[in-house]
Amino acid sequence: MTAESISPAAKGNAQAVRGALGGRSLVLVGMMGSGKSSIGRRLAAVLELPFSDADLAIEQAAGMPVEDIFAIHGEPYFRDGEERVIKRLLQTGPQVIATGGGAVLSAKTRAEIAKNGVSIWLKAPVDLLLQRVSRRDNRPLLKTADPRGVLTRLLSEREAFYAEADLVYESRDCPHETAVEEILPLLSSYLGNAGAGKDAPAPNLDERKHAG
Ligand code: S3P
Repeated sequence: MTAESISPAAKGNAQAVRGALGGRSLVLVGMMGSGKSSIGRRLAAVLELPFSDADLAIEQAAGMPVEDIFAIHGEPYFRDGEERVIKRLLQTGPQVIATGGGAVLSAKTRAEIAKNGVSIWLKAPVDLLLQRVSRRDNRPLLKTADPRGVLTRLLSEREAFYAEADLVYESRDCPHETAVEEILPLLSSYLGNAGAGKDAPAPNLDERKHAG
């Protein structure tokens, strides 16, 4: 998906979003399997912005895969690195950033995202998450006999943090291109209203856009 391959309406929205973002980045939050990296990469292409995957940036900084960071150093070490990497990425906006599913557990990261980003929660039901995560087996928290149980528990622990995002996109089983076409007007409308600038008032939660 490129800026050329989208509909004229989506292209117009992309231009409006790109202009209204200023130096802020678009930050995708949500559970493992919600499509943050796949959708983020496509969104970045359409917006003609750089794309960063926070997990990949952590792997580059640590010189090893996420799985090994968890196995060798433990989850708290990973979370420290995650906090530092996301803070750094947010300082070089605008770009599109896909965060790891647990990034929002950090209050510092949530504050950095609120300050330097426009955030979108890719909200998906556990059935869809399970279907998507089962395509790969590289997620340390899901190396368990009961991935459904773990996903259900993590979602209930994190839901309130994801809900702090500026926008919520209700994800369903559709092509990522469709998700991008649907997210662009949400963003355009949000940025054209409450989110137009750094000094704009905080959005009224009741006015946040839902789709899906
Ligand atoms: C995690 C999600 C993963 C990765 C790590 C921990 C989590 O990222 O950061 O395995 O705690 O939910 P994705 O959400 O990109 O799979």
